[in-house]
Amino acid sequence: MQYAWITDIHLNFIERADRQKFYQEIINTNCDGIFISGDIAEADCLASLLLEMEKEINKPIYFVLGNHDYYRGQVNEVREAMTTLTKNQDKLHWLPASGIQKLNDNTYLVGQDGWADGRIGDYQNTRVVLNDSRLIADLFEGRILGKFQLLEKMQQLADADALELQKNLEQAIQQNPTEIIVLIHVPPFKDACMHQGKISDDDWLPYFSSKIMGDVLLEAAQKNSSINFLVLCGHTHSAAKYQPLDNLIVEVGRAEYYHPAIQKIIKLDCEETAYLMFSSKNAKRLNCSIDQLEAGKGLRKKLIE
Ligand SMILES: [Fe+2]
Repeated sequence: MQYAWITDIHLNFIERADRQKFYQEIINTNCDGIFISGDIAEADCLASLLLEMEKEINKPIYFVLGNHDYYRGQVNEVREAMTTLTKNQDKLHWLPASGIQKLNDNTYLVGQDGWADGRIGDYQNTRVVLNDSRLIADLFEGRILGKFQLLEKMQQLADADALELQKNLEQAIQQNPTEIIVLIHVPPFKDACMHQGKISDDDWLPYFSSKIMGDVLLEAAQKNSSINFLVLCGHTHSAAKYQPLDNLIVEVGRAEYYHPAIQKIIKLDCEETAYLMFSSKNAKRLNCSIDQLEAGKGLRKKLIE
């Protein structure tokens, strides 16, 4: 089994012919399904583009939404539409509605959209204003009232999603898997929020990270050291890999408007397995870096022997 991970594809910016080229690229990977960690399009065309993807690619699509997917919309309305889509379409799975997914005997998939929560960086003094507070009805109201009312709105959304993720993780953990893959949109740790090769600065971090999600993930991974957690996210458009614990890896995808890309193919089976064999524990065993371990098929084989 193998899955193509994509993120921040912003399909609304792309002509149909280019979208089709991208779908064909995905088909050519021979993947069994697709993971999307948010920012697929915008609220007014999200459902139709998801239906187009489903029809053209014809493989299961597991996804969460990003802040852009709510642009020109209202959070509850978009979520209702995604729940209906998940109910009615065989291959479309918005993870907050579909719940935990068993990918194979050892691996479960869970996901929640997630929102920046202003708890990392310097919200008090930042002058950054995101389009979120102009284009998402729920956050617009907050902005009209003031900066701290906006923060309250952001945190309400972020905290509710983190609580849902916590419940999903508990449910998945009860199935005794060895691996749990988590899809969220907003990076859960400061060290995963890169910008031009460096960690984002204190002005951007409040909008680029979700501390509450990080807390939930750390707690789950700390309590369950026999399970490996792989967290896939997007939002910052800058690639990052951060491993706060031996059994917890966070990867952020690199994205560019107008150029949707496949981030990586995640293989679950046999020798090619375990994306999570790139853990620092295994890297130490083989005396190499996590990146070398990921790049080297031979190294991974060595681990299985
Ligand atoms: Fe994005």
